[in-house]
Amino acid sequence: MSSLLVTGGAGFIGSNFVRYVLDNTDHHVTVLDKLTYAGHRESLSGLDPQRFTFVQGDICDAPLVGELMTQADAVVHYAAESHNDNSLNDPRPFLDTNIIGTYTLIEAARKLGKRFHHISTDEVYGDLELDDPERFKETTPYNPSSPYSSTKAASDMLVRAWVRSFGLQATLSNCSNNYGPYQHVEKFIPRQITEIIDGRRPKLYGKGENVRDWIHADDHSSAVLTILDRGTIGETYLIGADGEKNNREVVETILTAMGRDSQDFEHVTDRAGHDLRYAIDSTRLRTELGWQPRYTDFQEGISRTIAWYQDNEQWWRPQKEATEAFYAARGH
Ligand code: NAD
Ligand code: DAU
Repeated sequence: MSSLLVTGGAGFIGSNFVRYVLDNTDHHVTVLDKLTYAGHRESLSGLDPQRFTFVQGDICDAPLVGELMTQADAVVHYAAESHNDNSLNDPRPFLDTNIIGTYTLIEAARKLGKRFHHISTDEVYGDLELDDPERFKETTPYNPSSPYSSTKAASDMLVRAWVRSFGLQATLSNCSNNYGPYQHVEKFIPRQITEIIDGRRPKLYGKGENVRDWIHADDHSSAVLTILDRGTIGETYLIGADGEKNNREVVETILTAMGRDSQDFEHVTDRAGHDLRYAIDSTRLRTELGWQPRYTDFQEGISRTIAWYQDNEQWWRPQKEATEAFYAARGH
């Protein structure tokens, strides 16, 4: 049994990871989360108090980070400002949390000699043309486009430098777009599902041709546990499940699954600097560490995600009005 410190565990992917770890291992989990607008204590309700501890706090708080890390065997670092549209509106929190927060954690981890796993994104590689036969690999040069992705790229570089300069016992992973339960309604898929529940039309940025490579959050969790168990220190692993779809196809899938005309959507103002296409080649993770995704049927995964939002309105409803006001003010 190990004790894991999970940062950002009250967010979308972090909370799914905590549930996955408690269901599939005998590890103890301590979550450190600031509970920003994106963090929800309710996303972690009902967990076994013998195996789970929640601490509200900031990853930039070095004394708190040091105290919690002393008690942990390993750290899995999810905490971040994660939404591109927010980063275009107000970049500063992205620098604080994604860069200074990561710095604070890796300083503590190297001083205490702790195993560290850094969670990152495929967006650090920039974007691909729609017809490019290539996908992102571990060797693809960094070329981030947005304030969000540039701060994630900076955090990756810090972790890599701490491995080389200080011998930090770290691995890194860069994953594609996740979907599943507990995702904030600001994000594409939950926004469209809840717009339909509220009797409005889904909203596509621009022409809806941008491509994302979708993976279920539980497959991301199983990949992270695999890397934590068997990954090589200092290495980066790309996580993806061959789930490329353009945004229009995703909206059509959601509309059809919810019993609506598949063309009943609208086009809204595009995102500034909108990345065209992301696509992950996860060969390394599959061949070197033996990982495989389980949720490869996107329609089935979307139907279960729709059912979750239909059944858990009390979880997302408090976030919905402010989210839509933010988008309305920007023509989205
Ligand atoms: P999220 O916005 O849903 O959750 C982020 C969590 O971090 C929240 O609980 C928030 O309260 C917490 N947090 C923010 N600032 C903090 C701080 N200073 N101190 C402590 N906690 C803080 O994000 P997510 O979508 O779950 O993403 C989690 C991680 O996965 C991020 O690092 C993100 O870059 C990465 N990632 C996300 C995706 C995706 O599709 N969502 C894909 C690849 C990688
Ligand atoms: O690729 C991994 C990244 O995926 C993560 O690093 C980020 O944290 C995560 O937010 C996500 O970034 P995206 O910008 O790709 O996700 P988002 O859900 O914001 O948008 C997905 C696509 O849908 C994108 O092309 C923009 C488009 N979109 C989004 C919204 C909210 C719309 O067309 N309409 C919308 O209403």
